[in-house]
Amino acid sequence: MPKPKKLYIKTYGCQMNVYDSERMAEAMGGAGYEQTDTPDDADMILLNTCHIREKAAEKIYSELGRFQGLKLENPDLKIGVAGCVAQAEGPEIMRRQPLVDLVVGPQSYHRLPQMEARVREGEKVLDTDFPIENKFDTLRHRPKAKRGPTAFLTVQEGCDKFCAFCVVPYTRGGEASRPVTRIVEEARDLVERGVREITLLGQNVNAYHGTGPDGADWSLARLIRALDAIDGLKRIRFTTSHPNDMSEDLIEAHGSCTKLMPYLHLPVQSGSDHILKRMNRSHTAESYLRLIGRIRAVRPDILLSGDFIVGFPEESDADFEATLDLIREVNYGTAYSFKYSTRPGTPAAERPQVDEAVKTERLHRLQALITTQQRAAQEAMVGRNVNVLFEKPGRLPGQMVGKSEYLHAVHVADCDAAIGDIAQVEILRSDTNSLAGRIVRG
Ligand code: SAH
Ligand code: SF4
Ligand code: F3S
Repeated sequence: MPKPKKLYIKTYGCQMNVYDSERMAEAMGGAGYEQTDTPDDADMILLNTCHIREKAAEKIYSELGRFQGLKLENPDLKIGVAGCVAQAEGPEIMRRQPLVDLVVGPQSYHRLPQMEARVREGEKVLDTDFPIENKFDTLRHRPKAKRGPTAFLTVQEGCDKFCAFCVVPYTRGGEASRPVTRIVEEARDLVERGVREITLLGQNVNAYHGTGPDGADWSLARLIRALDAIDGLKRIRFTTSHPNDMSEDLIEAHGSCTKLMPYLHLPVQSGSDHILKRMNRSHTAESYLRLIGRIRAVRPDILLSGDFIVGFPEESDADFEATLDLIREVNYGTAYSFKYSTRPGTPAAERPQVDEAVKTERLHRLQALITTQQRAAQEAMVGRNVNVLFEKPGRLPGQMVGKSEYLHAVHVADCDAAIGDIAQVEILRSDTNSLAGRIVRG
């Protein structure tokens, strides 16, 4: 057998890129590559990139520059750029950085082994097609290696919503859902390999409408019920949802499906109707709040998380105050917030921009409010019993770390639970970004 070649993959951006990186590693496994966790001894480096904000995209060029030395030491080293920057700026990457041998967009990963062969012949390869054949079909043959207790599973990809600030519809293409049978097969395979919790992924995961075994279009709720029936699968999560696709059956599933965890990431972006309209979000602050009310009526303890953009073009002080008001009203368990970043080619890029200093100040204020809510949500767990799925050893000897059903990280000292166990834990303390507790014996 020839010595395996080494592949180093570095992943940026969202969970979908994490999932895609695993699939790329598997595809390259078929071409004789094994993964390494350092670029230093790699035969091939792949950067799986994110284009969502300017900083994310620019980081790639500085990262590539750092590989110059490695390429001098090892002229056979091949460097590839995958993901959303590859899709958006493919030819520019090739122009700006001659070190790059390969540019591959998110829909073409199944072709990587063929591309690798061409690159080995000294060719430069750029493939950012949206091919007819489906990458998921060709990426099905996965090795049976044991896995950790949690996994991502992409069920839907792409977006038709065209929010005025966002590149995703351009980098990932239109909405497409995988068929139910394929997803169930993949979930069973993951469970056989040790997975206990699956997070279903999609840029608009709740817009899922895959073909079911009966030939009908299945909703995400129906898919979740099919996965619920898999023995050995203990927990189901999904992300990211859009408020407009939060259908009645999905809300209802939060009340009746015990494997569906009480955590929901539901981005709203702004609390000002004027800004929401300019963002092309097609919902209002009030419709979002009503939706939250309906979800909480079904699952009162659900922990909510969101995404916010501050300093969107034309955002006034009053618009920003409306966002703070909405946050106060919802009371989030956690949230992600970003300064608006101008993305070339998106409609908002052409509009009057908010001053950078104003954006910074607003971001700080918003984050301070979210931090207060996050702390309060954590404090509210103290004294309660939660179920923890243990994922890995902690930093201290004898300590284990896992996640509660609310996705809080929980540390347990002197812990005899094994990785993959779910145990009841009494929460004793809330630390900055995690909880600490002890196992409750039944
Ligand atoms: N599909 C998901 C989110 C995709 S991007 C959804 O619709 O919710 C993740 C987050 O990045 C978004 O929710 C938004 O808050 C942020 N984001 C997207 N484009 C951005 C931009 N141009 N500037 C700043 N933040 C942005
Ligand atoms: Fe981007 Fe909006 Fe689509 Fe989310 S819904 S991916 S923010 S365009
Ligand atoms: Fe980034 Fe692409 Fe995900 S732009 S957030 S990696 S879909």
